[in-house]
Amino acid sequence: MSKMTVRDIDVGSKKTLVRVDFNVPLDEETGAITDDSRIRAVLPTIRYLLDQDARIILCSHLGRPKGKIIDKLRLTVVAQRLAQILEHPVVYTKDCIGPEVEKAIGKLNNSHILLLENVRFHPEEERNEASFAQALSQLADIYVNDAFGTAHRSHASVVGITRYLPAVAGLLLEKELKALGGILKNPAHPFVLLLGGAKISDKVAMIENIMDKVDCILIGGGMAATFLKAESYEVGLSLLDGTVDLAARLIENAAKNSTRLLLPVDVVVAEEVRNTAKGNIVSVENISPEVRIVDIGPQTIKIFTEELQKSKTAFWNGPVGIYEISQFARGTLAMTGVLADLDVTTIVGGGSTAEIVTKSGLGNEMTFVSTGGGAALKFLAGEALPGVEALMNKNP
Ligand code: 3PG
Repeated sequence: MSKMTVRDIDVGSKKTLVRVDFNVPLDEETGAITDDSRIRAVLPTIRYLLDQDARIILCSHLGRPKGKIIDKLRLTVVAQRLAQILEHPVVYTKDCIGPEVEKAIGKLNNSHILLLENVRFHPEEERNEASFAQALSQLADIYVNDAFGTAHRSHASVVGITRYLPAVAGLLLEKELKALGGILKNPAHPFVLLLGGAKISDKVAMIENIMDKVDCILIGGGMAATFLKAESYEVGLSLLDGTVDLAARLIENAAKNSTRLLLPVDVVVAEEVRNTAKGNIVSVENISPEVRIVDIGPQTIKIFTEELQKSKTAFWNGPVGIYEISQFARGTLAMTGVLADLDVTTIVGGGSTAEIVTKSGLGNEMTFVSTGGGAALKFLAGEALPGVEALMNKNP
């Protein structure tokens, strides 16, 4: 990697501000963390800093509080979970800048850990305001970015702060760039892309950027309806995100590129999307106007499985059905199992796909599960990530 990492700088006894992405999913009713993968993902950096006797100041956002203090988006639960996992005390401050924070940091000794409050409680964070970035920078001697999931945001704690402190990458950021960068550089062939989720629009740039490296694209999920519509199938009440033209363009580009693009041949349809709804398996030729597509069907699962089993590299982004409803989660669970059984490079994009894989307990069976949703898609779309660009370059 061309950027300096935390291994390239002396952090011993230094106040080291680490931007992490502790934007973890929370249970709506209890506020408890439902998946702590993003906390566990930065443990290598934290443990490295502990070994080096650094004074560790962690900084993150949680949710989208839009510059206001929202109690249920406080990082208290995260501080507790981190302390529990690390078996190490974590001091937590009720703000991320100001005299109270400075006082707490003044008391930090080597190998102490402190977690600042949600940076997005300050509107200046998302506006990347220099005064806020500077106030954060004054808390530390060194800045480490280990928040891959937020590296596509030009925010004060991601980009602005790098103007005031020596800024290096953390070990998670390095690992993410290496794993996802491998897909862009020289994936082993056949390279199969398994795509799902509702929207095509947020994936089109990524698909177009890697199309020439991909041998086969498998389309499931809500977006399959848009592709089927582009091929003139009836898709009933399935939600189309206004991108039938985009789907048609992708089908055309794939053909020009000799990339095979496979759509479902059968699907599960339902009259409503509810826990009690009943699904019916139909061929894509027989979708009636009053139903919507909720999962891929068994024949499609078989075809997709065979393609994945032939692959040497597989990248998966997006559930292939409405996985939140158990009777419509069969396709997604089948794909998780198939990928977990493969003995080739399997990379899972972040966001809901990462959550599904983690919940199924099969995360460790994949080569890599990214912690970045939007950031991973932007990176694979060939876009520069501002949070990475802002870090110091290694000497040539
Ligand atoms: C994510 O969950 O993708 C990151 O934490 C970024 O969050 P954001 O989309 O609210 O900026």
